[in-house]
Amino acid sequence: MSDIILETHNLHCQYPDGTVALQGISIAIKKDKKIALLGTNGAGKSTLLLHLIALLKPTCGNILFKGKELQYNRSSLATLRSQVGLVFQDPDSQLFAPSVRQEVSFGPINLGLSEKQVAERVFRSLELSGIPHLADKPVHFLSYGQKKLVSIASVLAMNPELLILDEPTASLDPQNAMEIMNLLNTLNQKGMTVLLVTHNVEEAYGWADEIILMNNGLITGQGTPENILSQDELLAGNHLTKPLILDIFNSLQLAGHLPENLPVPRTREALMALIQNNTPVKRII
Ligand SMILES: Nc1ncnc2c1ncn2[C@@H]1O[C@H](COP(=O)(O)OP(=O)(O)OP(=O)(O)O)[C@@H](O)[C@H]1O
Ligand SMILES: [Mg+2]
Repeated sequence: MSDIILETHNLHCQYPDGTVALQGISIAIKKDKKIALLGTNGAGKSTLLLHLIALLKPTCGNILFKGKELQYNRSSLATLRSQVGLVFQDPDSQLFAPSVRQEVSFGPINLGLSEKQVAERVFRSLELSGIPHLADKPVHFLSYGQKKLVSIASVLAMNPELLILDEPTASLDPQNAMEIMNLLNTLNQKGMTVLLVTHNVEEAYGWADEIILMNNGLITGQGTPENILSQDELLAGNHLTKPLILDIFNSLQLAGHLPENLPVPRTREALMALIQNNTPVKRII
């Protein structure tokens, strides 16, 4: 069996007002990967995600879900959305139930789970998202960041095989942002494939297995974080800057402070360890 969950072929999207948002997108989302999609405002990222869960139908091109062309009938869409979950960029577009518990219960109830199973899913999702204390709050009283966490919890409650998140950490404080990124790692280690949109190159560099760059409705780069995010021209063309860890590492190598053949560090800790292990210790006699 193929290890590709979703693939798009030459996807085009023109909105009714004439805006061309996608101009021929071909990507493949491989099982078990952590993929970060980066691109400027208006690049077409959210539009692409809406196509991936069939909330938008392509103007032309097609989408394959587990090797079969996506159908837009009720039962195919129900199957797709039970296995692929999207956390929207704007939580106000996603949340509609009066209370947090009702919101998070909605998906599991729709899956036809028993009352006990629904309660378990809700409890687990709220725990994972760090918001069990908000369970009985009315959604409209929540802060924007709290709404974002509820959006994440409500998609987690579906236990999707592929979790797609549109700028999940954009409105979160650093602690919550870090906890969500750690959670995405844990979920991935347990077998969930994760695709996220972010504007944060540092976050993408440290977290992703694969980076996809988008600009003006087109894919402009795709590959490993070390490869894609070290190409100065590519980064400049996509209005991105090199991750600080990579920049420091490259500069130390260029200046001869670190040997050439070291593994490229992906985290602050890995960079620090390289510096500590490779810098000659000055002796004070
Ligand atoms: N419903 C719509 N009708 C008309 N144009 C739209 C609609 N939604 C998005 N667009 C346009 O499509 C283009 C792509 O928008 P999209 O929201 O996909 O970008 P994005 O990459 O997600 O940007 P951001 O980083 O700001 O979230 C933009 O030019 C936007 O103005
Ligand atoms: Mg967007």
